[in-house]
Amino acid sequence: MPNNSSALQTSAAINEAVQTLRDGGLVAFPTETVYGLGADARNASAIQKIFKAKGRPSNHPVIVHLAVPDKYDVAQIDWAALLSPWVRDLSEEALQIINAFWPGPLTLVFKRDKSVLNEITGGQDTVAIRAPNHPIAQELLRKFKGGVVAPSANRFGKVSPTSAADVRDEFENELDLMILDGGDCEVGIESTIIDLSSGERAVLLRPGAITPSEIFAKTGIKVYQAGEDVKADNDFPRVSGSLKAHYAPTTPLRLYAPGRVLDALSEYPDTKSRVAVVVWDSESSLVLEDHPSIDVQEMIVSSDSADFAAKLYRTLRDLDQQGWDLILFPEPPNGEEWDGVRDRLQRACFGSGPSSSSHVNN
Ligand code: TXA
Ligand code: MG
Repeated sequence: MPNNSSALQTSAAINEAVQTLRDGGLVAFPTETVYGLGADARNASAIQKIFKAKGRPSNHPVIVHLAVPDKYDVAQIDWAALLSPWVRDLSEEALQIINAFWPGPLTLVFKRDKSVLNEITGGQDTVAIRAPNHPIAQELLRKFKGGVVAPSANRFGKVSPTSAADVRDEFENELDLMILDGGDCEVGIESTIIDLSSGERAVLLRPGAITPSEIFAKTGIKVYQAGEDVKADNDFPRVSGSLKAHYAPTTPLRLYAPGRVLDALSEYPDTKSRVAVVVWDSESSLVLEDHPSIDVQEMIVSSDSADFAAKLYRTLRDLDQQGWDLILFPEPPNGEEWDGVRDRLQRACFGSGPSSSSHVNN
């Protein structure tokens, strides 16, 4: 499997993908965050196929992905014109954030134009939009000349795919799914989502690689935490990633506090247990010789937040397939740059275990 986007898909494959989208089919494609499962954003029945393939409830809204002009000078892009078919009431603040971060791993929620399909918005008055910064995604979007809706290309509640092979694994039974291969995703966790639809405060709905302080530093705009501003709306999952159980492996997964691996293991006294323990590369090897009764294997991960995020889902998937009884991850440190991975890991823990899909559907 190719390791980076030098494995650029041929133009022929992208042309075929464009045709598939035009014909109302689904195409999985790489973005810098995770792989998406795409459909024509103006074709309701194509969008319904995504929900069916993922097993995702139909009231969960999806993100519209837009192209940026070829050979653009970012400063010259007329974002207002690009957004006008989708968005109403585009604010000056929104444009500032867009100018600073698009194309990139940032999704923005706006008031929707009335032409936007209910299948996209889950019937809400808002629409989520992102311009991904991945050459294959961009070439696909430019050639398609339209919006492409794309949730992460995984079954509902499961770990998002960060390689073409992961997508293949998720949709093994959909033999005819077309997958564009762009190698491994660089960011590795889904885009940051900021809600700008109130026209007043910017609210963080999902943490990701782009953090509120980065947004503040580049634009002077303060991004509030969800809940700091809006009341939680319990009946309506606006962000499916906000369900407690999400991104979940089928092997039980737990976090351990710094230096507390042995405590975590002692909760699993079964001497036959096989446990995978993930350890920071900055830390010396564990003292697991003290625990000879359990079959423990260490796995080293980067203590740099961006590198860790890039490999998080890869690591979860690989460990999940190795038949451990338990997977232990170190608790991510405090600090905003860890918010995205902490969020994903906590949800993955909550939903993990053999019955994870039933948790998710509850
Ligand atoms: O990085 C990403 O964002 C990836 C790549 C493929 O672009 N996509 C992705 O899509 O993560 P998905 O569907 O797995 O997650 C999108 C999240 C969902 O949790 C959804 O609820 C939320 O965006 N969302 C979509 N439209 C929304 C809206 N109008 N208001 C609030 N949340 C919305
Ligand atoms: Mg997802």
